Amino acid sequence: MTDYGSDFLWIVILASLGLSALAVFFSISRRQRTHAPATYTAGEDVASEAARKVLREFEKNGQSVDAALVTWSPETLRKILTEDLPEAQVIVVSNREPYIHNIKDDGVELVVPASGLVSALEPITRACAGTWIAYGGGTADRLMVDEHDRVQVPPGNPTYALRRVWLTEEEYQGYYLGFANEGLWPLCHIAFTRPIFRESDWEAYEAANRKFAETVVAEARNERPIVLVQDYHFALLPRMIRERLPEAIVITFWHIPWPNSEVFSICPWRERILDGLLGSSIIGFHTQFHANNFTESVDRFLESRIERADAAISYGGQTTLVHAYPISIEWPAELLAKLPDVDASRATLRERFGLKADVKLCVGVERLDYTKGILDRFQALEELFIRHPEWVGKLVLLQIAAPSRGTLPAYKQLHDECHRYAEELNQRYGSNGYKPVVMVAEHHSQEQVYEIYRAADICMVTSLHDGMNLVAKEFVAARDDEQGVLMLSTFAGASRELLEALIVNPYDPAMMSEALLQALTMTPEEQRQRMRPMREMVRDNNVYRWAGSMLLDAARLRKRGELDRVTAVAERSANANIDNVVSMFERKRATAGPR
Ligand code: F6P
Repeated sequence: MTDYGSDFLWIVILASLGLSALAVFFSISRRQRTHAPATYTAGEDVASEAARKVLREFEKNGQSVDAALVTWSPETLRKILTEDLPEAQVIVVSNREPYIHNIKDDGVELVVPASGLVSALEPITRACAGTWIAYGGGTADRLMVDEHDRVQVPPGNPTYALRRVWLTEEEYQGYYLGFANEGLWPLCHIAFTRPIFRESDWEAYEAANRKFAETVVAEARNERPIVLVQDYHFALLPRMIRERLPEAIVITFWHIPWPNSEVFSICPWRERILDGLLGSSIIGFHTQFHANNFTESVDRFLESRIERADAAISYGGQTTLVHAYPISIEWPAELLAKLPDVDASRATLRERFGLKADVKLCVGVERLDYTKGILDRFQALEELFIRHPEWVGKLVLLQIAAPSRGTLPAYKQLHDECHRYAEELNQRYGSNGYKPVVMVAEHHSQEQVYEIYRAADICMVTSLHDGMNLVAKEFVAARDDEQGVLMLSTFAGASRELLEALIVNPYDPAMMSEALLQALTMTPEEQRQRMRPMREMVRDNNVYRWAGSMLLDAARLRKRGELDRVTAVAERSANANIDNVVSMFERKRATAGPR
């Protein structure tokens, strides 16, 4: 071997020793954090220093680092905002509002809607003291706002302003029910419901997006707000904001799956949708798979440059980051402290539904939506009763189905089919007051839902397709007794994180029924062994981390933009100097005359 060869070998050995030492250091410090008690909250300065460290690392590497080094809390978010994005006003935009006021016989009723988006964004907006812009759809909403259409929320302890946007009946029909929920929703979910695209819906969608853009501009206190645009209701909004507020950071989060480019090509306005979204500084998806599908769609339909290594798309002179940010829930959930313990919750629920002591309780909680696999769940129950009849009389499935989009034909049909099937099962397998399926098609408050999770032996999340599914994470968060079994569809984004759940294919009733049997017969010790790591996962990857990662990326983008501006000024003045030198030289040559 030559001397150069042996030097090189030594360099390689020393470098790998150094890297291993670093890896060991990080893994030990990470393990210490993950195994710290749930109450571990780093001091404020430690949290912010850790966040800054992540950002420094991030800037150094030009890519995401292990952000789990930070214990994410509302305080971490506030620190990022004050220190890394000073003076930035946070504006959230979503269709669904976090608080709905409805007229009731005895006055005005306040409803928190059944929406994963709302349960994730609400604690974030509270922590950032931002402004939330949303459609005011409640029957008493107009009565509750001030002269600027704002109402301070949460009621009783207001920390942020909810700015309501009013839509005409025609806009609501076309934009929300039509284009968003009969077009984009079935387009993005593999649930075999045909998307419907109407020109008039598209026009209403565009008009509604414009109305929200105007409201964002009106609410912005300066030229550089951070606007968090939520979901498929607003594909055109990022571009509209960018045109009016070029300095804004627009972070768009797509809460549902993104289809592959062939499926996406069905949409008659596919280029407009992609163009609209690429007005964003950052576009987030729950999974890398959906981020990749989006990038492929852009690659196929727009003249753009895809920087795969940087997860970025350059289009029309602007760069957009396309990343996966798995959404999560508040941890610790504030309302847990208000709830009775697991034993009390069990007793209440069993009494309410008249369940005998030896009957196991399996629950499903969602909006009545054809993507959620509710009929498939019923079929799994029937399959279990056929294969293992000893469970007839010993198991009840409590299905909470919040009414949703009920005027659309696909939803009406699902509603009827679910009720019919539940009735059939009850007739076939019920007796002496025992009903295997209890279907409650009513809205439930978050407190009521958590009480149900705490009372359950099994929680079934059997979505045919789902961006993330926060019911799965909420069930885990509710079980501080480390008991209960989660059955989770492999087609929900949550199955990429909650690996200790019983992962099922909702299209396979035989497999689902066997998983149900496994759940019913699982020992408390195995339940604990599965539940504990899932709870650690949700604790470490809570919703503050979700928002914090996006804000850190936004801070990096803003800093990079500022640097680019400084470089551009320096380049311009350098060019001007060269021009001066050249013109001086030319003047000299001119005065010297011809040779
Ligand atoms: O998460 C997807 C989503 O469509 C959210 O955008 C929405 O808030 C939620 O489901 C409930 O749906 P809707 O607002 O149409 O009732």
